[in-house]
Amino acid sequence: EKGTYPHYMLKEIDEQPAVMRKIIQAYQNEEGKLTIDYNIAEAVSEADRVYIVACGTSYHAGLIGQQFIEKMAKIPVEVHVASEFVYNMPLLSEKPLFIFISQSGETADSRAVLVAIKELGHKALTITNVPGSTLSREADYTLLLHAGPEIAVASTKAYTAQIAVLAILANVTAKFRNQPVEFDLVKELGIIGTAMEALCDSKEEFEAIAREYLSVTRNAFFIGRSLDYYVGLEGSLKLKEISYIQAEGFAGGELKHGTIALIEDGTPIIALATQESVNLSIRGNVKEVVARGANPCIISMKGLEEAEDRFVIPAVHELLTPLVSVIPLQLIAYYAALHRECDVDKPRNLAKSVTVE
Ligand code: F6R
Repeated sequence: EKGTYPHYMLKEIDEQPAVMRKIIQAYQNEEGKLTIDYNIAEAVSEADRVYIVACGTSYHAGLIGQQFIEKMAKIPVEVHVASEFVYNMPLLSEKPLFIFISQSGETADSRAVLVAIKELGHKALTITNVPGSTLSREADYTLLLHAGPEIAVASTKAYTAQIAVLAILANVTAKFRNQPVEFDLVKELGIIGTAMEALCDSKEEFEAIAREYLSVTRNAFFIGRSLDYYVGLEGSLKLKEISYIQAEGFAGGELKHGTIALIEDGTPIIALATQESVNLSIRGNVKEVVARGANPCIISMKGLEEAEDRFVIPAVHELLTPLVSVIPLQLIAYYAALHRECDVDKPRNLAKSVTVE
């Protein structure tokens, strides 16, 4: 039930802090340590390469998960769009482990890959919100998202839940492999829950941004580097699917290789700047588009902020920024769709669960 909320999407955005706490609880043992099923930790640890397969928003969560698994557990990871993988399978490693990420657990494109790799005798782990779903039943292992039912077609809380569960998986696998992890993930996820709350309490600011930048535009671009680039891809998908604004996410460094030709007077550019290591370069990219007339909206993180920034997100651990930086983009997409009188929860041409290939 959406209760007092005008839309499920807004309710589900607001549920994200509670989902974070639920996930911490679900994956904590009696001593308060993060833990997952021993067999899963072992299966991932023994893989010489992890293949993450998913579609849409879940694919975008996979791109973040790749960073977690490579940086924490030190296992190489490839991330693939399911519909491409199935007809154009890459050369597989000796001992691959497949991770399917699917909110619904019913996505036909992902299932087709699962069937194909099972035929080859490989092991699969499904990360899903729906216990007993097809992808869960047919895989060897399952990790649940604990996000509660997601009704709005545009995925929000499932995306952050997927990222949190991938962080936990990477963290536990790192310990299993005796790889040092220099931070306390339980503590950091707690900080994230609080930061998420602060963002959900800043709705007026995101409504104002949507009004100012997106009320009349035909297109909008999201730029970022490193993790911010991946979050920009998700922000652009949210915006295009519910507001029908043509929105694209680009890596900051790729602009000059073509995309910058699209910049006109007033083109909205939403730039994420949450990564210290690339802060100077993304700000350089903003200057490049501003010089061509773009209307920039910089969303940065406390500690990296500059006077020109439109919004500053509370500081969280550098590797976990997607969990918070996506919330402004979800809310901006929501308000842009609302202002343009689109059907927020049921956008045209889309279904919640895509059960055809
Ligand atoms: C976007 C969205 C879709 C889904 C995609 C995969 O907001 O909801 O892109 O993420 O169809 O769905 P699942 O995760 O159920 O496999």
